[in-house]
Amino acid sequence: MQTKILKLLKDAKGNAVSGEDIASELGVSRSAVWKRIKELKNLGYEIESLSRNGYTLKSVPDLLLPYEVDDGLKTKFIGKNIVYFDEIGSTNNEAKKLAAEGAADGTIVVAEEQGTGKGRLSRSWFSPRAKGIWFSTILRPSFLPQDAPKCTLLAAVSIVKAAQKFGVNVGIKWPNDILFEGKKLVGTLTEMSAEMERINYVVIGTGINVNLMPEDFPPDVKDIATSLAIVKGEKISRVELFRAILEETEMLYEGVIQNGFAPLLDEWRKYSVTLGQEVNIIGVGENDDFSGKAVDIDDDGALLIETEGKIRKVFAGDVSIRPRRK
Ligand code: BTN
Repeated sequence: MQTKILKLLKDAKGNAVSGEDIASELGVSRSAVWKRIKELKNLGYEIESLSRNGYTLKSVPDLLLPYEVDDGLKTKFIGKNIVYFDEIGSTNNEAKKLAAEGAADGTIVVAEEQGTGKGRLSRSWFSPRAKGIWFSTILRPSFLPQDAPKCTLLAAVSIVKAAQKFGVNVGIKWPNDILFEGKKLVGTLTEMSAEMERINYVVIGTGINVNLMPEDFPPDVKDIATSLAIVKGEKISRVELFRAILEETEMLYEGVIQNGFAPLLDEWRKYSVTLGQEVNIIGVGENDDFSGKAVDIDDDGALLIETEGKIRKVFAGDVSIRPRRK
């Protein structure tokens, strides 16, 4: 009912709508309308209520509320079910729980704030309230489990394309970091539940630093991280950006289902800031560190490194780009 009330108020474009009109439109009592209006006000909607005129929507909160994200969202299934939290430990953990309980393909879990946001390689992810987009996408793809890591590449490309629509050109550092001038804007943590030949679900967790200011970052990340607002020099509408990301994700995902991963990998190569660079590989195992030149990614999404005249494949780990010698 809240969604319908909001629609009526928004359609009135700043004019008042009487409680009686809303009540009769929705087939409920005026006091039921009043209760819902109170709930909306508690969420941060500024609604003027004058007993003679009715209700006027003055402003909407800067929150990723499902009604706001859904309003104008042009997708068929990604984001059609948004599970929203004001505060949660980790959207990835919640998404895995919901996926195990049967949540639909394309379900999104989003939170304004995460208390224990998770990063890759057991790191934590700083997720302050209403400054970023901290979300997880549940997918149930028909491809094989070994293709699941490429979902990370898909998420990265979708964000680069969405950011371009907001006038910010960013690059991808293998496998999934989105950077601007070497500083991190976005990270993705993909988790999966699968059997040998079948994926039960994939959870793509993405953290986007949208409107953080330099002073918002804790000391340990302030020199290596940045935000879209810092890069652009002005705040960005998180709701509009979120919508654009969901739309890009759906387009790319449908493309993969229809045509395979090759076109996606080509797009990834286009936006990569890793390829062609001298890099240090920080492997997951003890003796896995080495250096070389990143020459390509293969069909599996693995990074190909030329080192000592040979090509080595990197499936997991971290990459640091070595500064060019002057
Ligand atoms: C990285 O280390 O680069 C990955 C960071 C992933 C952070 C996101 S925020 C939303 C989702 N929930 C989590 O707990 N982590 C991911």
